[in-house]
Amino acid sequence: MREIGFTNIEEHIAGHHAFIEWLDTVKTTYRRAAESPFLIGDMVNKFLEGWLIKHILEDDMMYCDYVKKDK
Ligand SMILES: [Fe+2]
Repeated sequence: MREIGFTNIEEHIAGHHAFIEWLDTVKTTYRRAAESPFLIGDMVNKFLEGWLIKHILEDDMMYCDYVKKDK
């Protein structure tokens, strides 16, 4: 991303860091409430559905033009 001059890189990195923090929260929640994995599974599914739609289809697509220009 830096090599192709993507201008929104810090915000993008922050989004990935937030995702990693969320994963740590899921792991901690699971360890504390391992008897209710289905509730955690529902939460994970809903979050990932949002992540896949918002992040991959919108945020990741923001640097497509930069990649195309770089070729
Ligand atoms: Fe990304």
